[in-house]
Amino acid sequence: MKILLTGGSGGQVGSEFIELVASQHIELISLTAQQLDITQQEAVNEKVASYQPDIVVNAAAYTAVDKAEDTQDIAYAVNRDGTTHLANACKQANIPLLHISTDYVFDGKQDTPYTETDLPTPDSVYGKSKWEGEESLRSLHAKHIILRTSWVFSPFGNNFVKTMLRLADKQELNVVADQWGAPTSAKSIAQTLLTLCLRYNDKQTLPWGTYHFSGSPNCTWHQFAQTIFTQAQSESLIEQNVTVNAITTEQYPTRAKRPENSTLDCNKILSTLGIPTPNWETDLHEMIRQLKTSP
Ligand SMILES: NC(=O)c1ccc[n+]([C@@H]2O[C@H](COP(=O)([O-])OP(=O)(O)OC[C@H]3O[C@@H](n4cnc5c(N)ncnc54)[C@H](OP(=O)(O)O)[C@@H]3O)[C@@H](O)[C@H]2O)c1
Repeated sequence: MKILLTGGSGGQVGSEFIELVASQHIELISLTAQQLDITQQEAVNEKVASYQPDIVVNAAAYTAVDKAEDTQDIAYAVNRDGTTHLANACKQANIPLLHISTDYVFDGKQDTPYTETDLPTPDSVYGKSKWEGEESLRSLHAKHIILRTSWVFSPFGNNFVKTMLRLADKQELNVVADQWGAPTSAKSIAQTLLTLCLRYNDKQTLPWGTYHFSGSPNCTWHQFAQTIFTQAQSESLIEQNVTVNAITTEQYPTRAKRPENSTLDCNKILSTLGIPTPNWETDLHEMIRQLKTSP
């Protein structure tokens, strides 16, 4: 099997995917943003035509949620148009596209976990650009999987865990306690994408569509931060106690509006594909041990 990965090394999910695939008998063509800019339709067509992959995994995205409010053109060019370009090229080659989307397609006003049939009404530019990318893919190419995930962390790139550890010196931090979601390790997302690739290779089809996939249990950013510091201290990654004060969203204004509840109901992926939600506390422990050995 030959897999083409966009937004490869450098990104969180892309980097984990490269590491996982290295242990398999799979030919992986991993292209960075410099090697393939997905905002360029011609370039996307050319790479798909020349490498002739069996499947494309799109780990490329514009993920700077607050910055996107002021750089709308780039966010839409990557998240909406880039997805469109990949959908067109995969349709032309008659190969599947595995794509990743986000909990931020929801506005967070619902008080139960979101299912795949709940209608997104995103509040932020990032959320809107990802939603429009999803819709474009759905309308253009039936052979797709959209994996919606949330609060991604890994030893690679930028994420909340690394930010918290960087701020640990302050010994006292304020973190919002009224936004609910679910941390998800990039490794578990990469593993799910790889499982889908292997299954497609075996059966030459997949139950196409949109799936929610996030870690469990659900929590607030405040609870997530507390767990990060507890684990980091128990692994001696940090020495000091860090006090995490619970604050409200109102007390921590951000450029982009965040959903109050972005928890995802992940029953469909379990019942259809047999893929369970990963325990994020276990995955966080693994990441912290990894940071300790190779910071
Ligand atoms: N991060 C989260 O908390 C989160 C939450 C929910 C869903 N997601 C979704 O999960 C997926 C993976 O996220 P991630 O956290 O791994 O993202 P990430 O770490 O920001 O990586 C994104 C990758 O895309 C590349 N990229 C940006 N513009 C590109 C372009 N025009 N052409 C090709 N590549 C481009 C980046 O390259 P450069 O670094 O060189 O720009 C980077 O390697 C995305 O679809 C994201 O929307 C993420």
